[in-house]
Amino acid sequence: MTESFSVLLDQTIGRLRAAGVASPEADAWSLLAAVTGVNRGELQAKALIRPDIIDAAQQAQLEQWVTRRESREPLWHITGVAPFLELELEVGPGVFTPRPETELLAHQAIAEAEVMVPTGSEVSVVDLCAGSGAIGLAIAHRVAHTRLLAVESSLDAAHYLRHNASRYAPERSDILVADIADVSQRVADHSVDVVVSNPPYLVEGVDPLDVETTQCDPPEALFSPGEGLDVIRRVVDISRRILRPGGVVFIEHGIEHGEATRQALGDAGFRHPQTELDLLGRERFSRAVAPEQ
Ligand SMILES: C[S@@+](CC[C@H](N)C(=O)[O-])C[C@H]1O[C@@H](n2cnc3c(N)ncnc32)[C@H](O)[C@@H]1O
Repeated sequence: MTESFSVLLDQTIGRLRAAGVASPEADAWSLLAAVTGVNRGELQAKALIRPDIIDAAQQAQLEQWVTRRESREPLWHITGVAPFLELELEVGPGVFTPRPETELLAHQAIAEAEVMVPTGSEVSVVDLCAGSGAIGLAIAHRVAHTRLLAVESSLDAAHYLRHNASRYAPERSDILVADIADVSQRVADHSVDVVVSNPPYLVEGVDPLDVETTQCDPPEALFSPGEGLDVIRRVVDISRRILRPGGVVFIEHGIEHGEATRQALGDAGFRHPQTELDLLGRERFSRAVAPEQ
């Protein structure tokens, strides 16, 4: 027997809450939308007029997915896609799941890339530590004149990066599976317009992690030596080398890293280092402008 939509919704929320999921209502809606193959808005509208909208096969699928989510497998590994701005990125084991807070950095980088368009030439964007491609592909998707180079060292992550790039910027993206230091294999010094990066910056054994992060995000995506600052400092130095005068770098960092990141940017010769806050007022990412030679 199939349950009505409202009963299924209530049961799912209750089970997820009991399992300690941080956002049981949002996750329940996402799982119900995914089993029915529509987005949340469409589901809400349809469920009002059709309480039997979920058939027996979909209910069986939902049962499996709720059980996985109860064991704290990340929502986006279960549905296979993670939303990032208007993109739906393929994610799974071995790749970092893009986070909503990184959308703030992507928004600002898109705005910066947009104002670089009017010459009619390409805007050269490099995403260092690209993961699934979230930031770079969000720019390439929105700004038609983008030429993207995404650099990522993990072979597992590169599998998802390739898939997402072929969906959202097939003709305008290049992928380098290598350490960020090898970016010079593909771009000349002082030639790039925008560098974006969300590198690993957590301190192993110190920063608190939720169950989903501990179980499913790869350690190389999370932790950096040097109190969480080593990879950030490398990103600063590499950006200084490849950005053209007037080019802009955007780096996400830990909420306690704003001052150290501004300092690193200033020491490398960048102009106007400034840190942007997230919606909770915490220092979330920093940006700066490359100087004249
Ligand atoms: C926090 S994740 C961010 C992924 C993506 N930029 C995002 O915002 O969703 C950091 C990524 O950097 C990659 N990475 C770590 N160290 C690297 C290095 N030295 N060179 C290239 N990629 C690196 C990891 O494999 C991981 O995919």
